[in-house]
Amino acid sequence: MSHKIAVMAGDGIGREVMPEGLRVLKIAAERFGIALDFKHFDFASCDYYREHGKMLPDDWRDTLGGFDALFYGAVGWPDTVPDHVSLWGSLLQFRRGFDQYINLRPCRSMPGIKSPLADRQPGDIDFYVVRENTEGEYSSIGGRMFEGTEREVVIQETVMSRIGIDRVLKYAFELAARRPRHKLTSATKSNGISITMPYWDERVAAMARTYPDVTVDKFHIDILAANFVLHPDWFDVVVGSNLFGDILSDLGPACTGTIGVAPSANINPEGHFPSLFEPVHGSAPDIAGRGIANPIGQIWSGAMMLEHLGHEDAGRAIVDAIEAVLAAGPQQAPLTPDLKGKGSTEALGKAIAEKLAG
Ligand code: NAD
Ligand code: IPM
Ligand code: MN
Repeated sequence: MSHKIAVMAGDGIGREVMPEGLRVLKIAAERFGIALDFKHFDFASCDYYREHGKMLPDDWRDTLGGFDALFYGAVGWPDTVPDHVSLWGSLLQFRRGFDQYINLRPCRSMPGIKSPLADRQPGDIDFYVVRENTEGEYSSIGGRMFEGTEREVVIQETVMSRIGIDRVLKYAFELAARRPRHKLTSATKSNGISITMPYWDERVAAMARTYPDVTVDKFHIDILAANFVLHPDWFDVVVGSNLFGDILSDLGPACTGTIGVAPSANINPEGHFPSLFEPVHGSAPDIAGRGIANPIGQIWSGAMMLEHLGHEDAGRAIVDAIEAVLAAGPQQAPLTPDLKGKGSTEALGKAIAEKLAG
């Protein structure tokens, strides 16, 4: 049986890292006897917007709904399309429309990547950020009043539902229960945000009672951010609301050395809808077009996609190939400039593909 994968490269370095993601997936498919059937789409990009006046065709749900997974690069080109138009019109539609309520973002220190926390050993940083992905601070409830006057006011409500919180907590607790350390950290801000965040804490406490084997702690987001830098080894599974999860999943990988390697899985765990796999980073207009973007975030996202599709061995083999190439260091491997190397996107992608091919 073949897996149908919708491929959307998006904008900027999305188009440069996607070919490397696909190169590695094709080798994995060959090596592990997996049938992958890729179909490319040009929508969900700012070029498509310039031609059609919208980010997605009206029938995008039907077009994409039948795929087994969506493989996305990065979207956004703020010079021509405002971010709230491009992102709300594409990625955030997929996350909500396909109820991908989990955003799973691993953060792991890797061999050969020098962290600003360099005295830590590879493997010392090894945690997951589990981000609520469909509600919270990212809501469309609100508005602008008295526009253009001195009394202009804007309001955007935070929405937290019991179902929405409980389902992401359940996923995070299950993940913590499967990991050796059985530890879960909750990101809160109940000292300052006095209605939604105490409710979040209440639901965490309730869920904790059903997972007696998982050790639970919580930190306010400000000191949690500080502790990511000061004590990254404390963390195993970190669960947070949509905005807190967003921030922590850039900060975590930055502590390991670069956000260019960070992958993410937008998951609908029930499988009612296709899940979406994309790097954590954006379209990086500052380096786009130069062929120097790190393709590892895209390639590792491909590994997460294969794991999700039931091919754990193939996913693990890709991550092993990434680690083997990184371990060789910038003298031997064509590492990209964010890894202090002189390699290109393509050369690093090829090196990983060759390592995987064996
Ligand atoms: P960004 O992640 O695109 O870039 C931030 C910094 O990290 C830049 O200096 C960039 O050069 C660097 N960087 C990012 N990925 C890299 C890689 N693979 N290799 C080497 N360096 C890398 O964030 P931004 O600049 O805030 O946003 C740019 C655009 O991307 C905006 O339109 C934004 O809305 C969009 N964006 C999209 C996504 C997504 O599609 N999931 C995520 C974040 C931002
Ligand atoms: C991410 C991105 C998106 C988010 C933006 C671009 C809307 O930062 O996937 O982390 O905030 O979710
Ligand atoms: Mn982000």
